[in-house]
Amino acid sequence: MKKLISILALSLVVYAQVPDAPTVYPEGELGRMVKLGEEIIMKTNTHELTKDYVGNSLTCSNCHLNGGKDKAIGTFIGTATAFPAYSKREKTVQSLQDRINNCFMRSMNGKRPIVDTEASIAMATYITWLSEDLPMKMNPKKPVNPFYTKSWPGTKEVKPFIVKATHENYLNGQKLYNTKCASCHGMDGQGVATFPPVWGSNSYNTGAGLSKLDKMVTWMRGNMPLGNPDLSMQEAVDISIFVNAQERDDFDLQKRLLPKEEMGHYNSKVSSEMHSVESNFKAFGLDLATIKGK
Ligand code: HEC
Ligand code: HEC
Repeated sequence: MKKLISILALSLVVYAQVPDAPTVYPEGELGRMVKLGEEIIMKTNTHELTKDYVGNSLTCSNCHLNGGKDKAIGTFIGTATAFPAYSKREKTVQSLQDRINNCFMRSMNGKRPIVDTEASIAMATYITWLSEDLPMKMNPKKPVNPFYTKSWPGTKEVKPFIVKATHENYLNGQKLYNTKCASCHGMDGQGVATFPPVWGSNSYNTGAGLSKLDKMVTWMRGNMPLGNPDLSMQEAVDISIFVNAQERDDFDLQKRLLPKEEMGHYNSKVSSEMHSVESNFKAFGLDLATIKGK
């Protein structure tokens, strides 16, 4: 119990350190690029400069709430201070533009924009502006926001709950989804009006952060239900199991990588990577068919 209290206290302290987003935009061309980047992050799938790179109906802001100005998990405040950073996934040191553009192949279910194009620089400029006045915080292990390293209650805390999931958890997740989520995301997961889809081809694919059962849990506990994130660990685990067991597009890096003329230099030493709904369950020792009760 004492340990639990100190963990809670620690996470509150860490949260409190996330400062407010800046409100004053830089002047001149720099300010124009910050504002352009913000516009793209708010309207990624419809913006003239990025819509052709997006393969679903999401915006960056659907997961990085309020364009990452929100302080909850997914905030962009502090992110830029961690870059350049080593990425285990690509086995190279990634620039902020690399990190951003790779999201287009995964969370955005599309293709990678070219580094140093106007859209790519604009997004990086906006995200960098959100770290104005914060000290650099390079991280030799992974490219993450320094505020996350303690406040994302990552894999370690969530994993033990996931590895023991059964069909019962799936059924409970379905029930919870129907009562707590379906009013906005639809009984069929396809979204309602401007509320985004949470499964199917118009949502994130199986290579995205949220398709990983543990990351979905921590993200949801910080952000959903929108405006009132109140899920217990077990509830979030059950919903993550249910939502991520539904169909969504597979991720095959080979098929996402375009010829150099269309994608520019891809800064990575890893050229193959594949994920499916099944493999994302298998990563936690779970059999998808058993979980779904088939
Ligand atoms: C009151 C409406 C509402 C409720 C209830 C709600 N959401 Fe959301 N959800 C949203 C909105 C709006 C966004 C996009 C946020 C933005 O753009 O600011 C979102 C984003 C998401 C996303 C990321 C984007 C995507 O579509 O993949 C996921 C995943 C998600 N919600 C899951 C859930 C789950 C699971 C629940 C139930 C625990 C839930 N939401 C409850 C409104 C809601
Ligand atoms: C479906 C939800 C979703 C969408 C849409 C999404 N992201 Fe993310 N993003 C995540 C998750 C989850 C993480 C953490 C992933 C991890 O740790 O592997 C993340 C991490 C990041 C990071 C690293 C941040 C850090 O501090 O760790 C950046 C930068 C980023 N996203 C940029 C973007 C941009 C730009 C877009 C739009 C082009 C975008 N994301 C769209 C879910 C999403």
